[in-house]
Amino acid sequence: MQDSVNPPRTAGATGQPVPMLDLKRQYQPLQQELLEAVGQVLQKQQFILGEPVAAFEREAAGQLGVAHGIGCSSGTDALWLALAAAGIGSGETVVTTPFSFFASVSCILRAGAKAVLADIDPATFNLSPSAVEAVLDGPEGKAVHAVLPVHLYGQCADWTAFSRLGQERGVKLVEDAAQAWEAGALGDIAAFSFYPTKNLSAAGDAGMVTTNSDELAERARMLRQHGMRRRYYHDEVGWNTRMDGFQGAILGVKLKYIDGWNNARRTVAKRYAALFHAAGLVEVGPYPARGVVLPHEVPGSHHVWHQYVIRTPRRDQLREFLSERKIGSEIYYPVPLHMQDALKCLGYAEGSFPESERAAREVLALPIYPEIREDEQETVVSAIAEFLS
Ligand SMILES: Cc1ncc(COP(=O)(O)O)c(C=O)c1O
Repeated sequence: MQDSVNPPRTAGATGQPVPMLDLKRQYQPLQQELLEAVGQVLQKQQFILGEPVAAFEREAAGQLGVAHGIGCSSGTDALWLALAAAGIGSGETVVTTPFSFFASVSCILRAGAKAVLADIDPATFNLSPSAVEAVLDGPEGKAVHAVLPVHLYGQCADWTAFSRLGQERGVKLVEDAAQAWEAGALGDIAAFSFYPTKNLSAAGDAGMVTTNSDELAERARMLRQHGMRRRYYHDEVGWNTRMDGFQGAILGVKLKYIDGWNNARRTVAKRYAALFHAAGLVEVGPYPARGVVLPHEVPGSHHVWHQYVIRTPRRDQLREFLSERKIGSEIYYPVPLHMQDALKCLGYAEGSFPESERAAREVLALPIYPEIREDEQETVVSAIAEFLS
């Protein structure tokens, strides 16, 4: 791969902006197919759940190799639904990461449980199994009922270690697989997001719970419809978190292409690595000194390259430099969850999770999507080279 990549040109050589994401490039070749799928929902006038959602649930579960897929209205709701279906609620504790999207923690609070955080592995940015083990061995360990690893940026969390923890310590594994279509669905129950920027994306909000357990699947289906097994007979207090027919129809079309898109993302990631090496910018991680630390792909682990995230010490200045050249970039996430105002109630302070705090200062996500062009990637790397020179 590396040999076939041209050395980077000078910054902005193409003179073209590089968008962080351009969903129109995905839409254009699929336009006819998507319009037909949406048209059928309109013809049938069945807007909530219905056959397109059921078909998507079956096909998506089959593609992931799990018994059940339960479509719902967002990834956030999928996380809540997964916890609620697994019986996690008041009086129970769930351990997760401070370096994720807000929903990874807010879903625990919404389920009525207590959230305890453990730091990340600085090489992968994922929840560290040894940090979780330290919590399980500590004073709060006995109250822990579940661990909620996040497959951040599309890289599967250390599942060998987490399954061992699950078995040895008797804790449930609830996965936040929002960013990891294909890489997730390994634990007791998992939650996916189809937010429009995700690898597999809806035309609005949508999500899905997956599980191999018939019992958990049945509970999730009941809870997503106000706790009803029989119409207007409510067995539990659930919520309205159903997937709508348009999203089911659109996702059903896109599911046929996702393997190809994820493979294209792998090619894009390899090309970035080759370009950064060719430009002599790469440093050995996990921490950067003056250059760039590339994302670390764990050998044998599944990475679907939802994001391509580098680490660099003068991150904010670099981002400004890129945006002056109309090159997209993003920070996922600038403030770790334990330092968010809304989560002060967790009782942590600055300094509680040094790896997450350092990552929040150094990470920068670069444009990655199946349709990004080679010359656009060259423009990105050239600009970074110019900034660092
Ligand atoms: C890690 C993570 N968890 C949960 C979510 C929530 O998903 P949604 O935006 O579909 O509610 C997201 C989406 O942004 C996410 O990235």
